[in-house]
Amino acid sequence: MYKFFFRLFFSRMDPEAAHHLAFRWIRLAARVPVLRTYLAALLAPRHEELRTEALGLRMHGPFGLAAGFDKNAVGVDGLAMLGFDHVEIGTVTGEPQPGNPKQRLFRLLPDRALINRMGFNNEGSAAVAARLGARDPVFRTTVGVNIGKTKAVPEAEAVADYVKSAERLAPYADYLVVNVSSPNTPGLRNLQAVDHLRPLLTAVREAADRTATRRRVPLLVKIAPDLADEDVDAVADLAVELGLDGIIATNTTIAREGLGLSSDPAVVQETGGLSGAPLKARSLEVLRRLYARVGDRITLVGVGGIENAEDAWQRILAGATLVQGYSAFVYEGPFWARAIHKGLAARLRTSPYATLADAVGADVRTAA
Ligand SMILES: Cc1cc2nc3c(=O)[nH]c(=O)nc-3n(C[C@H](O)[C@H](O)[C@H](O)COP(=O)(O)O)c2cc1C
Repeated sequence: MYKFFFRLFFSRMDPEAAHHLAFRWIRLAARVPVLRTYLAALLAPRHEELRTEALGLRMHGPFGLAAGFDKNAVGVDGLAMLGFDHVEIGTVTGEPQPGNPKQRLFRLLPDRALINRMGFNNEGSAAVAARLGARDPVFRTTVGVNIGKTKAVPEAEAVADYVKSAERLAPYADYLVVNVSSPNTPGLRNLQAVDHLRPLLTAVREAADRTATRRRVPLLVKIAPDLADEDVDAVADLAVELGLDGIIATNTTIAREGLGLSSDPAVVQETGGLSGAPLKARSLEVLRRLYARVGDRITLVGVGGIENAEDAWQRILAGATLVQGYSAFVYEGPFWARAIHKGLAARLRTSPYATLADAVGADVRTAA
């Protein structure tokens, strides 16, 4: 039904306009009490066996919406209503900024992929903090807050920009993510080098502790799939050294591998980060590598090319406690999160593992 609708309607629209329209409908539905109660009952995860404890938080299930969909935290309840058990808002930057000129989002339909060069369009940390502070949640859901660097801020002042966001947003974040992996802010990914990352993560940790005084907000870092394997290992070692709570693997890629021949070559050449199905193999590989290195000492979040329950299950077996997706939501529609949670519950029931936690990393432990 959604796929028919998508082909007929959304696929003919500009992708960013389609996003705004669909998101507006989701938010509208969430404002109608009877409708939202009905939809949440239908779509939200309620499988006992999927209950997840991660980052010191209790969740109904392991699957959530990756950063970038709700950059300004305007629709968390609507997204929770659709069954995403955690919603990562952002990326939020220290200062508001418009992002890159349009067109900046492209569909690669035959490859079930997207290319984006949004460039962190967002209302800035002060506005988003005010919105989160005023929020009266309808659904109990986990809200992650993903922060990045304001484009106009020089690289030498990046730490101060992240600190500003962390101070403002940490009090409202169930967990905080330092995003150093978007390909669309010049120089951002250089911050993944351990020499830059150490002072950045240390400063953000201190900033969060300064303002979120009632509890210790879990801190994670989100990395790119384009890191060399040795650099993935170096980030993993640093995360352990600093006592970081988690690593999110991965963001979009600047590579153009894994694409079929049918996507329009002109679109394939667009600058930006590629997400969706072609990212699957590398994201899984990075996750396995991280788990082999850090084991259960750090919570791993698997994201990149997850399209169905089997993909999500494979991430859990490869070491992910939480899994996220974005691109396939566009192609699969509003029943997507429900299908993933349902399929995960079915897989767990027929697996040799008593709990979801037992399944985390099982493939990597067997291989070792
Ligand atoms: C349009 C778009 C915007 C995104 N914006 C952000 C962002 O602001 N911050 C971020 O950390 N990741 C962002 N991402 C990356 C996703 O969170 C995710 O890591 C990536 O798309 C891989 O997952 P997927 O293959 O399920 O889409 C964005 C992705 C897309 C498609």
